[in-house]
Amino acid sequence: MLRCILCGAEVDGFSRWFASEQRCPDCGSDRADVIYRTPAAKVRKLFDGPPNGMPGMWRYFDILPINDRKNVVTAGEGLVPIDRWEFLEDYARRRFKVRCRVYAHRHDDNYATGTFKDLSGSIVSSVLRENGIRNFVASSTGNTAVAYARYLTAAGISFYAFIPENASITQAAEVGCFGQNVFRVKGDYTRTKEMAMAFARKHGMPLAGGNFDPMRIEAKKTMLLEWIRIMDEFPTVYIQALSGGTGPMAIAKGCRDLAPLGLAGGMPRFILCQSSRCAPMAAAWKEAKAKSFPEGWEKTYPIYHNPETRIATLAAGFPKTYPVLAPLVRESRGDIFSFDEDATPLIARIVAFERSVRIGPAAAIGLGGYFEALKHGAIRNGDRVLINIGEGIRRSPDFLATMFQERAEVATIEECRLSNRPRFRAGLWDELEQKVMTAEKKSRAPRN
Ligand SMILES: Cc1ncc(COP(=O)(O)O)c(C=O)c1O
Ligand SMILES: [Zn+2]
Repeated sequence: MLRCILCGAEVDGFSRWFASEQRCPDCGSDRADVIYRTPAAKVRKLFDGPPNGMPGMWRYFDILPINDRKNVVTAGEGLVPIDRWEFLEDYARRRFKVRCRVYAHRHDDNYATGTFKDLSGSIVSSVLRENGIRNFVASSTGNTAVAYARYLTAAGISFYAFIPENASITQAAEVGCFGQNVFRVKGDYTRTKEMAMAFARKHGMPLAGGNFDPMRIEAKKTMLLEWIRIMDEFPTVYIQALSGGTGPMAIAKGCRDLAPLGLAGGMPRFILCQSSRCAPMAAAWKEAKAKSFPEGWEKTYPIYHNPETRIATLAAGFPKTYPVLAPLVRESRGDIFSFDEDATPLIARIVAFERSVRIGPAAAIGLGGYFEALKHGAIRNGDRVLINIGEGIRRSPDFLATMFQERAEVATIEECRLSNRPRFRAGLWDELEQKVMTAEKKSRAPRN
């Protein structure tokens, strides 16, 4: 069952939800919580008993929005490592005398497409299949379309993806290679979204919901389920790269559902981070904070058309969810930062050196949030910090190329120099100090 967050109206399942165009039939809101009637004892068992025989996050079947197991579309997503990243703890201690523990939730290795969108891909395709839906439409700049293409194909559902014309051919191919339909729209992302909406309406097909989409919220809620199951302690801080904010909204929903059962701790402080090249929420937040959050602060935000960021997956220039998300961040006593996009290859190189893990650009922005938070005193002694490493390098060959700057061409043996790892390492951290920790913030005025 779904319950409208605004008026409390109850919607009896997803078939009714789709019939009313994914909106509350009473008030038209697109925000609804999925409500489960699973008995508390059964919920508790999901975390300590043996798995129910289903792969990946589907071990939580009883608190996911599917009724019949045969409709589940899965690639084993969600069962990824949560590693302790001591090098980040050492840094906080050395540089700021802050003693905290730092965990990395490693979606870089997710099974289908190597991003945490795999969770949504699996839930959305399963719900569509269960409700007999044969076609689905989405507009996307990044990871979402690719994950949906992969899972909807497995579900036998036709997918129509609208992407902006400046998206790369490889991006289009990631969807088209499955025999799915991809339209590169002449115009910007706003135009792309309009086209997708008009196409869906014309053909009576459901359109992928926005950041409030209850299917996406339920998918990302499974991140918190894994913290409960795997970690010895519940995080006090949750860090993520921020686009529309479905991640933190999902964590908050999970806390509301599970804290009363004594399973989740209190809501962690949400420390969210945007790219300096597209940071409307960080800009609005900074201003509101400086003015001590005056009346109506959450309704004031800039809109950037065609932001210049190269990180397509974070290119949300119109921060539509800010009025809901920002109060949530405030309630959690968290913060919203922006991080210099030009420093993302350095962050990725540090992680690759220290942990032999390759993260994508959006994940580097999330990690940038950790350094910004330290710099601004937002991480404290005793904190248990969980960082969502939301994507690996797999989908970003261009970004990978920026992680490697040395010239490797040689003609003679003399040119093949020996290396010194400790010196190389010191160089990476020095560069971080200069480029990030002591750099004056570049103020980048949006283009319009
Ligand atoms: C890797 C990665 N990190 C962060 C985000 C932002 O997610 P959210 O919708 O929670 O802001 C996305 C997608 O938008 C993403 O793909
Ligand atoms: Zn309603």
